[in-house]
Amino acid sequence: MSRLVVISNRVAVPKARGAAGAQGGLAGALVAALRKAGGLWLGWSGEECDHPSPQPVINTQDGVSVATIDLAPHDVEEYYNGYANSTLWPLFHYRIDLTEHEREFSKGYERVNDLFAETASKLIEPDDLVWIHDYHFIPLGERLRACGVSNRLGFFLHIPWPPTRLLVVLPYHERLVRSLLHYDLIGFQCTEWLESFLHYCRKELGAEVDEKKGYIWLEGRKTIARAYPIGIDYEHFTSLGDSEEARETEQRVLASTRRRSAMIGVDRLDYSKGLPERMDGVGRFFERHPERASDLVFIQIAPPSREDIGSYKRIRETLEQKTGQINGAFSKVDMVPIRYVNQGHSPAELFGIYRACKIGLVTPLRDGMNLVAKEFVAAQDPEDPGVLILSRFAGAAQQLTEAILVNPYSADELAFAIRTALEMPLEERKRRWKILEKCVREENVAEWTENFTRDLKSIDRPCAMSAGE
Ligand code: G6P
Repeated sequence: MSRLVVISNRVAVPKARGAAGAQGGLAGALVAALRKAGGLWLGWSGEECDHPSPQPVINTQDGVSVATIDLAPHDVEEYYNGYANSTLWPLFHYRIDLTEHEREFSKGYERVNDLFAETASKLIEPDDLVWIHDYHFIPLGERLRACGVSNRLGFFLHIPWPPTRLLVVLPYHERLVRSLLHYDLIGFQCTEWLESFLHYCRKELGAEVDEKKGYIWLEGRKTIARAYPIGIDYEHFTSLGDSEEARETEQRVLASTRRRSAMIGVDRLDYSKGLPERMDGVGRFFERHPERASDLVFIQIAPPSREDIGSYKRIRETLEQKTGQINGAFSKVDMVPIRYVNQGHSPAELFGIYRACKIGLVTPLRDGMNLVAKEFVAAQDPEDPGVLILSRFAGAAQQLTEAILVNPYSADELAFAIRTALEMPLEERKRRWKILEKCVREENVAEWTENFTRDLKSIDRPCAMSAGE
């Protein structure tokens, strides 16, 4: 049986407290995927050292070999803070206003991709199935081929793929996307991102594209691109509901909110998550319905993220200011409408918190998928489920159509959705939740792993086929 080799910048879930990693996201999903399949997981240790070695440190965790390498401080600055998180991340989330274009960033990105290619090519064995993740490693497949790796190579993008008109803002965009076409199989979170990608390949690269099958032919190579919506580890997450930690957290939230309904938001502190816009919506709700300030408490958990980057520092300041303004305007001596929490929480604690809340507010301005929305649904009490308010601009909105779908830019729409959710009769809540829960349960992370790896396995290498095949 072939071994699964996963490569991603982040490996393993960072410690929950004070770290952003446990709040949805890639690492949690990959832990689940590898826990099932076993195999090897390669990534950055999260550490810096002046002269990093391409020789990884290997530890075994939960039956998975985790191989990590350190990076030099200038690599972290140019590759991680730079090209990955100040160029690609904002651009792929449609924020060309925040996108930085520095030559040093792209050089650092290429250098680190070369370093990972050198490390990975020595770990990969002939039968391995190689699955590379996210925007940090777009050119890694091409680099591995240059190192002589001839295994099947899959790539999954966890974030949106932007419309062609935005992507062309990136200097040397063709080179980046051409390098991506060295993978055999490319996965996206939903059809919207897939369609944008296929459009780019046709329009900007002149590739031959079969939109229906997701085939792309360029320079004698065939690549397959498909949508594989990621899910949560449903069984594991719901089993946390029986834990002491989850129960105790639920009770603490319920006791502290007493007769008020709690509404929850859980996000890394990132501008793509629409947090200031969400606060505007919550503020608008309280302005319109000041009497409801004693009925509703909004809990926003937002662990800081990528704190060395200016745009992340600014979003934090903006959010603190807005939260302070709303609390100043609507608090009473014995009651505060918004609880703003920077601390991270463990998955079991999050289960308890979601369960205690009547409304889940998930309103990113743009999001590849969003697993917080799915976890909120999975944690609800079937007899008295809460209501999910979800941004129509999250990949999850294509699956979770029974949520209240909103435009996260509109404070009025958010305020109206909060009122609708608060007033929704039990029968309607149950009806919607049943449909949402079925989707979250069935389209889970095991299915996602299974679907992607099955398709990757079925590809014949080498994929040098001509158009029309
Ligand atoms: C998103 C990205 C992941 C990333 C995670 C946390 O989910 O798609 O690749 O790992 O955010 O961000 P960080 O920069 O802390 O790894």
